[in-house]
Amino acid sequence: MTTERAPIDQALRALALHAEAMKPRHLRALFAEQPRRFEDFSLVAGNLLLDFSKQRVTRQTLTLLHNLAKARDVEGWRRRMRAGEIINHTEHRAALHMALREPPDAHTAHAPEITREVAQSLARMREFCAAIHSGAWQGHDKERIRDVVNLGIGGSDLGPRMAVRALAAFQRPDLRVHFVSNMDGADLAPLLNRLNPRSTLFIVASKTFGTLETLSNARTARAWIDSSLPASLTHQARENAIARHFVAVSSNLPAAAAFGIPAEQVFAFRDWVGGRFSLWSSVGLSIALAVGFSNFEALLAGAHVMDEHFIQAGASQNLPITLALLDIWNVNFIGAASHGIFPYSQSLELFPAYLQQLEMESTGKSVDRQGQPLTLKSCPILWGSSGTNGQHSFFQLLHQGGQPIPCDFILLKQADFPLPGHHIHLLANALAQSAALAFGQTPAEARASGIGEDLLPYRTFPGNQPSTTLLLERLTPHTLGQLLALYEHKVFCQSVLWNVNAFDQWGVELGKQMAKRLLPCLEDDTEFATIDTADTLDASTRGLLAALKK
Ligand code: F6P
Repeated sequence: MTTERAPIDQALRALALHAEAMKPRHLRALFAEQPRRFEDFSLVAGNLLLDFSKQRVTRQTLTLLHNLAKARDVEGWRRRMRAGEIINHTEHRAALHMALREPPDAHTAHAPEITREVAQSLARMREFCAAIHSGAWQGHDKERIRDVVNLGIGGSDLGPRMAVRALAAFQRPDLRVHFVSNMDGADLAPLLNRLNPRSTLFIVASKTFGTLETLSNARTARAWIDSSLPASLTHQARENAIARHFVAVSSNLPAAAAFGIPAEQVFAFRDWVGGRFSLWSSVGLSIALAVGFSNFEALLAGAHVMDEHFIQAGASQNLPITLALLDIWNVNFIGAASHGIFPYSQSLELFPAYLQQLEMESTGKSVDRQGQPLTLKSCPILWGSSGTNGQHSFFQLLHQGGQPIPCDFILLKQADFPLPGHHIHLLANALAQSAALAFGQTPAEARASGIGEDLLPYRTFPGNQPSTTLLLERLTPHTLGQLLALYEHKVFCQSVLWNVNAFDQWGVELGKQMAKRLLPCLEDDTEFATIDTADTLDASTRGLLAALKK
């Protein structure tokens, strides 16, 4: 799919010229000039309010950004994604995560068998959740399942882990859900020490069922269950007993079967669901178990609300398109190299980590869809933490470090765990930080507040730090679904604007291959000097290997 080059170049040139004119402009002046800036630069969709008035933009900036969106055919790509076209061209796959949250009676643009498959998959998940929650599904010696451990990494971990954390207020009291991703024994071992094998169920979540970290942890978990069984069991009885403690979520059914998980305990999903977009698929089984299936359905329904908004709203009213355009503006025209994500919600503390994969694995690329080097920088470095904690740590850099770092502030109107007096303090801090970052403190203001001349340089705040504030009504499954789908679509729009494929991740492969090559050099009984490949290694790796083998 090619788009015409000339309008794109023209739009970029116009933005570059405009950016020159905008360089000396301060947010103070922009607010002074446009008294209705909040009304002009805020949008609503579902239960989300997006205030981007503290971005360093004018009406003209937005017009020019929207010209770029037109030239890049963002709306056309949106249609292609929804229709299930092969937009992931390097893996020859569609990207149909929206289909996973489409109600069966929705007007669909993709093949009817996809709707059928999604419904079947949800029905199986519902049935399994009911069996676990009712106690009908038991461990090998009839104990009720009390602990569920999701073994997965990347997209098979970050989304579900974040969602379960975010929805702590909806957590079922009768089941604990844990997440283990790292192959470092320090992740799995302490958890196993606390669990009872007779009442523990493992979900081996891996799209490929070939990921080293997940398979290492799954093998250890299997051995742990095995070692808890009576020695007298026959081979078959032992296999059957182990199987009571494992289910798999994968698109590689043969590999899950080879691991010993019976076919009826494998929850499949298709290759048109990218790992980092997969929490809506059976990868979300851990979420459904943690908060109940109806809450999982509410999460899907919330995402669908945002899908509909993304598909139907015109570009200037469209939250994902607006967020993506602001990112392009900040990265390519203001010169931001990083982007801070600050939920003022402890329940959303894992949201920045989830977004890191969603965004950086999707657009951390420097080759375009035609295989040519990008002429613009793409994805900024994403980072962040719960806002109130960040304030007492790295916010100093945001206020006085001298680098433009756009920030997303995420606020909940109502607390999910209300305690007297807490929430208003939290909100006051969030509002204060975004205002302080935007408007700073001039030397005159510092002086007026009684600061002496000697401290003036230290007590002056330049401001002009751009930020966006997202206000969520409440942190419910439905609102969380909207929030996640908003960022998913933002990332997709960014990828279109930068002309990169958002759905592959070849960059992570090289290191994996090298690790396989190095493994024999580290095995206990291997003499380092006898390893053939060692001769071809670089001096640093050889030196470190030698030190490790000593
Ligand atoms: O290595 C990166 C990656 O492929 C991610 O894209 C993916 O989410 C993660 O590994 C886990 O992959 P899988 O679900 O196949 O185990």
